[in-house]
Amino acid sequence: MLQAPRGTEDILPNEQVYWQKIEKEFERIVSSLGFGKIATPFFEYKSVFERGVGAVTDVVEKQMFIVKRAGTFDELDTVEEELILRPEATAGIARSYVEHGMQTWPQPVKLYYFGPMFRYERPQKGRLRQHYQFGLEILGTNNPFTDAFLIGLVKTIYQEIGLSNFIFEINSIGCPNCRAKMKRAITNYYKPFKDLICSSCQNRLSKNPLRLLDCKQEKCQPFIANAPALIDYLCPSCKEHFKNTLEYLEDLNIPYDFNPRLVRGLDYYTKTIFEVVPQDKSAALGGGGRYDNLIELFGGSPTGAIGFAGGVERTILEMKKQGIRLEPTPKPDMILIHLGDSAKKKSLSLLFQLQKEGFKVSLSLEKESLKSQLNAANKLKIPLALILGQKETKEKTIIVRNMLDGAQETIPLKKLTNFLKAKLEVQS
Ligand code: HAM
Repeated sequence: MLQAPRGTEDILPNEQVYWQKIEKEFERIVSSLGFGKIATPFFEYKSVFERGVGAVTDVVEKQMFIVKRAGTFDELDTVEEELILRPEATAGIARSYVEHGMQTWPQPVKLYYFGPMFRYERPQKGRLRQHYQFGLEILGTNNPFTDAFLIGLVKTIYQEIGLSNFIFEINSIGCPNCRAKMKRAITNYYKPFKDLICSSCQNRLSKNPLRLLDCKQEKCQPFIANAPALIDYLCPSCKEHFKNTLEYLEDLNIPYDFNPRLVRGLDYYTKTIFEVVPQDKSAALGGGGRYDNLIELFGGSPTGAIGFAGGVERTILEMKKQGIRLEPTPKPDMILIHLGDSAKKKSLSLLFQLQKEGFKVSLSLEKESLKSQLNAANKLKIPLALILGQKETKEKTIIVRNMLDGAQETIPLKKLTNFLKAKLEVQS
């Protein structure tokens, strides 16, 4: 039997309520605050991620899905470069910002997105090869006020989705000057333990030393716990930015855990970085931070920016863990039952008329007896049944049955809409 590829999921109708809840709440909140939706391609040229995310990151080194063209190179396809399924959206959005001259738009440009990302990871719970993110990017501002605004907004989004018991872990990795000092400090600190850490960390030591702080291997944990705190290497201006950000968060009453060893898996970050972590400190629900140098890497002028992305699947796992139960697809207000051929024909046009008027209507598409259709309505707790027989079709009437007490009334079709509205209002 064929199966969905490893690390991917089919999202079936009963699950969709959770997806819709996240997407709808997210869109409602961010669009009310002036964010515009952006959709960038699911695949981009490789250099977007090599340049943006960083060539020496797990995401680019180990987790890229390379898109192979089946045919020969198209002569119109002038860039002879590999295409990659996007592992994340920020690099593509930075590319788009420069490509479309968004620097000339009123700044900052506030964007949001919702869509799939692809990472060739080892699949496990909450770690997929295709996952969805809801994300925000604010481009064209250096102000720490924006950092607090974004974190406050992320808090609101998770709360409106229904989550509680999550915390922001926050740190600053400074500007490239600070980072050079941090890298030196981490490298010097780890040198004496080189033979005691895992092979990936040994490898990272020369290539990307800050990533040692993010290792999940058991044997590396004691070294992480005693590693130098990155904040000690911030230059005065980055320190000031971080201090201001934390003060704004305190003013906003946003609880946070300052984690001096927090680092992120993508290389574009500068200054503030943060993650949303559930109470049991299992995998992060979302993460983000500043990336003040990314636009320049794509050929734009210096542009301060900050963003965030939440993982949809992990958020749903957490919603369920926190006991949030959502009803699958809304229950119909009524079931339309037809008996006999002429009623059957009439029932379809009546169904579409009722649907247009805003009612939620169910209709049996199979040949079923009155009894079995009424039983189905009872089981689904549908409040009203509309019964259309030969006699009613001829007389242009319909029977409306209250499923709670079995009371029935015959109503002229002309008066049906108003009658149903009044009936449903009384029942709601
Ligand atoms: P990220 O931390 O790599 O950040 O991913 C954001 C979130 O996506 C994670 O916290 C997690 O919930 C979810 N996620 C990531 N990988 C997987 C996976 N393999 N399976 C399931 N869920 C996953 C970014 O992608 C940045 N672009 C965020 C950002 C936006 N920074 C600035 N702007």
